[in-house]
Amino acid sequence: MVGDLTDPTAVRAALVNVDAVFLVWPLLDATPAHALAEEIVQAAPRVVYLSSTAVDDHNPDQSDPIVQIHADMEALLQKAGLRPVVLRSDTLASNARGWAAQLRAGDVVAGPDFPRTAVVDERDVAAVAAAVLLAPHTHLDHGPYLLTGPELLSRADQVARLGSALGRRLRFDAVPAELARAHMLADGRPKALVEALISASLHRPESNLITDHVERLTGRPAGTFARWAADHAAEFR
Ligand SMILES: NC(=O)c1ccc[n+]([C@@H]2O[C@H](COP(=O)([O-])OP(=O)(O)OC[C@H]3O[C@@H](n4cnc5c(N)ncnc54)[C@H](OP(=O)(O)O)[C@@H]3O)[C@@H](O)[C@H]2O)c1
Repeated sequence: MVGDLTDPTAVRAALVNVDAVFLVWPLLDATPAHALAEEIVQAAPRVVYLSSTAVDDHNPDQSDPIVQIHADMEALLQKAGLRPVVLRSDTLASNARGWAAQLRAGDVVAGPDFPRTAVVDERDVAAVAAAVLLAPHTHLDHGPYLLTGPELLSRADQVARLGSALGRRLRFDAVPAELARAHMLADGRPKALVEALISASLHRPESNLITDHVERLTGRPAGTFARWAADHAAEFR
């Protein structure tokens, strides 16, 4: 069923006979989520929410708008009484798809730099979500689970691993925030998203978090970015 998460009528229709929900909230505004939460409360399913490892439980003000929205959403769902199972994900490997156009045109990826993180394969996040959605109620721990990949990687490390998968020598060029902003706006990305991404690149703190939560929940170790790159190489040629 296709529908807009901010349309309560569409959400109500989508929730008929549903007993478990994997909730992804990709918006930068939590306001419409109040109506969504009311619909979910009525349908009373199990809720698994996809959040971010960058959420800091000890700080009401998060590092940037993307992390703030996840902290706000976790609180909103709790307050609505939904007791979500929270999956906090590290940087998704699939973000690298945003480099595909540049790598089809040349050997350099130019973009805003970010601190190193343990980039996680989105297929592992999906496998964890499926495991939690299907777990017997008696086995359910509400987390938050911290889903990371097995190694800390900079943007340059990721580009180098893509190069190995493609058999090419690739380079990452860190672009200053002002220029990165201008490029992203020229690409047609929405202004609020561009500002959120720039803010994340400037303010997201360095992380050395690596956990075994993917393995604990799926029974197999988290995949490497090198494997992701090998599996997706064709998209960059
Ligand atoms: N990317 C990361 O590194 C990362 C890390 C941790 C957590 N997260 C979180 O994971 C979620 C997904 O991230 P992402 O990077 O994969 O995001 P994304 O590429 O922007 O994908 C968002 C998805 O949500 C859909 N969508 C957007 N607005 C919608 C609406 N009003 N109703 C229904 N669907 C809507 C989009 O559909 P269309 O394609 O049809 O527009 C798209 O499939 C976000 O909440 C993000 O904050 C991401």
